[in-house]
Amino acid sequence: MGKFIDELMEKMTIEEKIGQLNLVTAGEATTGSVVSTDVESKIKAGNIGGIFSMTSPSRIRKAQELAVNQSRLKIPIIFGMDVIHGYKTIFPIPLGLAATWDMNLIQKTARVAATEASADGLNWTFSPMVDISRDARWGRISEGSGEDTYLSSRIAKEMVLGYQGDDLSKNNTLMACVKHFALYGAAESGRDYNTTDMSLHRMYNEYLPPYKAALDAGAMSVMTSFNDINGVPASANHWLLTDLLRKDWKFNGLVVTDYTAVNELIDHGLGDLQKVSELSLKAGVDMDMVGEGFLTTLKKSLDEGKVSEEEINRACRYVLEAKYRLGLFEDPFKYCDEDRAKKELLTPAHLKLAREAAGKSFVLLKNVNHTLPLKKQGTVAVIGPLANTGANMPGTWSVSADLENTQSLVEGMRSVLGDKVDIVTHLGANLTDDPALQERSTMFGRTIPRDNRSFEAIIAEALEVSKNAEVIVAALGESSEMSGESSSLTDLNIPESQKRLLEALVKTGKPVVLVLFAGRPLTLTWEQEHVPAILNVWFGGTETGKAVADVLFGDVNPSGKLPATFPQNVGQLPMYYSQKNTGRPLAKSAWFQKFRSNYLDVSNEPLYPFGFGLSYTEFEYSPLKLEKATINKSDKLRITVQVKNNGQYNGEEVVQLYIQDLVASQTRPVKELKGFQKVWIEKGKSKTVAFEISEEDLKFYNQKLDFISEPGKFKVYIGTNSRDVQEAEFELID
Ligand code: NOJ
Repeated sequence: MGKFIDELMEKMTIEEKIGQLNLVTAGEATTGSVVSTDVESKIKAGNIGGIFSMTSPSRIRKAQELAVNQSRLKIPIIFGMDVIHGYKTIFPIPLGLAATWDMNLIQKTARVAATEASADGLNWTFSPMVDISRDARWGRISEGSGEDTYLSSRIAKEMVLGYQGDDLSKNNTLMACVKHFALYGAAESGRDYNTTDMSLHRMYNEYLPPYKAALDAGAMSVMTSFNDINGVPASANHWLLTDLLRKDWKFNGLVVTDYTAVNELIDHGLGDLQKVSELSLKAGVDMDMVGEGFLTTLKKSLDEGKVSEEEINRACRYVLEAKYRLGLFEDPFKYCDEDRAKKELLTPAHLKLAREAAGKSFVLLKNVNHTLPLKKQGTVAVIGPLANTGANMPGTWSVSADLENTQSLVEGMRSVLGDKVDIVTHLGANLTDDPALQERSTMFGRTIPRDNRSFEAIIAEALEVSKNAEVIVAALGESSEMSGESSSLTDLNIPESQKRLLEALVKTGKPVVLVLFAGRPLTLTWEQEHVPAILNVWFGGTETGKAVADVLFGDVNPSGKLPATFPQNVGQLPMYYSQKNTGRPLAKSAWFQKFRSNYLDVSNEPLYPFGFGLSYTEFEYSPLKLEKATINKSDKLRITVQVKNNGQYNGEEVVQLYIQDLVASQTRPVKELKGFQKVWIEKGKSKTVAFEISEEDLKFYNQKLDFISEPGKFKVYIGTNSRDVQEAEFELID
């Protein structure tokens, strides 16, 4: 590769090199071409390195032809897109996928996404998003794997392996792009794009590992984030992009900015377009997404001695290497196979996987009196603004989804249940009382019809429709665009309009099942107290409706576990289980003690802890068995626990292992996830689940940022969630 690129770069003018750093959208295509006339002339002039959000082999072929037939050096273009949780076959939103805790499955979903997207002409995806988030006000918590460092790191790896496979140059793989580097999920106040200010200690121990895990798995590109980090925005942050990423982590792939992030440095207050482009290039950015700051100013900066030719060469080389790795120099049209596009999208196998993934992502939050599963008989009323909207099922960041042809919840349920169950349905309530908020929350074709009559009239009609039903399924919560980018919220309750409906449904005395759509943890204290069954379904993707039917009617036993803490109220945020103890912790049984760390008005407990999720069956954990009480640094400690399925259904359980370092040279979290296993256990049967702990699991970054372990006592906890655990102690000795 080196020689090929050296020779190519020798032929390139400085303008052509800068052209490679330019990633553009196709622009509104005018007559005759697949790109705008402006883009067409830039391709011919060698001023474009990549295009994003253009799909279909025929269009991509035409654009590629412009590059390889009409530009001087015939350098192919790279084609990227946001393939986040599926391409045409849409899987659950990433937070939902994380709730499956099923690594194999997650890798398979990324594999399918890569197969479909590459069949449609693409070779680069802007995924995985691995930003840790502990503040559910931030709408983009939906796009990541939640609050936990270990779980997110495991998932990051699987996603990369799924996208890139074992050979990036194959025509059915995509180059992964880990984003948003870095710390985007720690935006102050949960407001999107907001500042992040964080100690290095927290950064290294809690926020950076998932990005590193994606790179260790081989991710060949990185996207810089929009946010400010300790005074220097990520897209101009030399420490982040060069000292950490290139020098410490030895990353040798491509660094691209987020959308117009270079230009946004102007509003961050770093200077004019020429200045911020210079800063960004020098910091370590290779490719400028959409803003054309690089294209329009770098030559001038070079002439004025503000940037060097070496800096431009470095960036250009990384872009060309990415193209080389994808095999584009060998065959620029390798992703342009019309036949594949016809055969490999939305296949029955892909849809089957989507249905399985959705069913596994659902988290059963409450189920009293065996309300669930339901019997396949009689009449079921499915009521609520999320009942009849196919367009909202894929969830946020599913730009390539076919919204028109996605089944709604009711359609999906009907297709599974056939004549066995009579499903009646009604809107029941508007998504929110505020039409303007509804409009902001249903953008990009995810419309939900509004009924402009009084809420009393709408509810009365819904009750009339439900009159003969034995059970009511309340399909409530968020619309898909209530989470995702630029969708932060300060109120995490189910909107008032829907709450009134839910109250009225509960009042009927019929069993009510809340099927909750959500892109983030919501605050559900009223619901937890009053509704007999709550199934959190996030946004399950293309097969949501069928998968909900599978779970509600017992063909699938729910096994999802929360990848993020659900608070009691928004005032508890940011909230996460792996907190520090403080010098004044609360006594275990108390919820308020004067001069202790707590609130006057609400306990410190979450509503549902991290890792929580019920099943139709019950799992019982035996006390832990440790093979020994001490380990040295080269030892492994084997820990076993017996898990018994004591209930009436076969089912899967996610057995979770947490560690606590009891005494250390610096404060350590009260618990940290360090292992988990998802096991299938038949009713009445037991399984012994074994874990091994080694020194590696006990390490942390100290104040000097050395990754070390310290001898001393540790606790190990194993259980069904981060709260309900069995515990034991062991010691690490030198
Ligand atoms: C902005 C988003 O922050 C990022 O996640 C996405 O990949 C780009 N836009 C491109 O669409």
